[in-house]
Amino acid sequence: MGVAIIRTGKALPELKVENQRLTEMVETDNQWIIDRTGIEARHVATKETGLDLAVAAAKEAMQDMDKDSIGLVIVATVTPDMLVPSMGALVKRALGLDNAIAYDINAACSGFIFGLWNAEALMKTHGIRRALVVGVERLSRITNWEDRGTCILFGDGAGCAVVELLDNKAGILSSFLKNYDDVSDCLTCGMEYLKTPFAEDTEKDMYLRMSGTQVYRFAVGAIEEAMTAVLEKAGVKADDVKYFVPHQANMRIILSAAQRFKQPIEKFQVNIQTTGNVSAASIPMALTDLMNSDKVHSGDKIMLVGFGGGLSAGAILFEAV
Ligand code: UT7
Repeated sequence: MGVAIIRTGKALPELKVENQRLTEMVETDNQWIIDRTGIEARHVATKETGLDLAVAAAKEAMQDMDKDSIGLVIVATVTPDMLVPSMGALVKRALGLDNAIAYDINAACSGFIFGLWNAEALMKTHGIRRALVVGVERLSRITNWEDRGTCILFGDGAGCAVVELLDNKAGILSSFLKNYDDVSDCLTCGMEYLKTPFAEDTEKDMYLRMSGTQVYRFAVGAIEEAMTAVLEKAGVKADDVKYFVPHQANMRIILSAAQRFKQPIEKFQVNIQTTGNVSAASIPMALTDLMNSDKVHSGDKIMLVGFGGGLSAGAILFEAV
């Protein structure tokens, strides 16, 4: 019995913000951003909610699929529209998925991998036939638009995979997750609660803050560890993987992984140029681009690999159906 990704979808907000626009807001320049990150533009939600994006991605992935066959909805996000109901519950309601249980997870940029891992385990244990795993973010709402070290990096969007329990195919071959303690708080974002008459008010910091170089070093090591682990677990060589779909945080991190595993960069699905870093939505959006490209054939081995806040990392190796 296996669990396979059978369809994917993605959604981006309408507004595309080119690097040039950011040079009018902070002291930076287009070439610096391209050279240091690979990013040329990102999409920023103006009127779209996270739910709008998640539902659009899910609709594209589901197409005319029987709604009643969906037994599980997992939404990975660090920027939910509301605390209650969860984004999962909101997606379930919006799509009329009467048979689904639904909830959110937060594993930052590794969220989609953690979500798939949850889905695979629950589907096998409880015989759930189909699930939606969604990554959705509006990072523009936690970005400090006056901090040139971070505001050039992030964007908004959503991606979704429909996963199915199969009797006779492997689907997911191996998975690996790991949490590393962020002892120096190198990647954080605070949140605000209302005042209470019973407690002293404390200073609140709601911005996404990142010590870029520290996170960069972590990312290069973590991506290598996660990729090595899923290859070893499945007994597969990097050469036998047809495509790699990495978290889109920095083009240089993706290049370093390609170099480390002696793989041509063409085997890595890259969309960072037009999306920036969209945390939990990065991998399912890039996977959708790969699946829509006609390059993937049944039996191809594909690796998803993510890393980010927590700190966290994870990878999943699967066979295309
Ligand atoms: O998704 C979660 C995981 N996130 C990541 O994996 C992100 C990992 N980190 C990175 O991608 C990179 O560290 C950054 C792209 C954020 C920064 O690149 P860097 O090569 O590490 O640059 P840096 O922070 O060391 O800064 C180099 C120089 C500094 O100037 P000095 O001190 O050398 O004079 C910065 O002040 O570049 C300066 N700088 C900028 N210059 C122009 C920093 N940001 C900018 C900017 N435009 N936007």
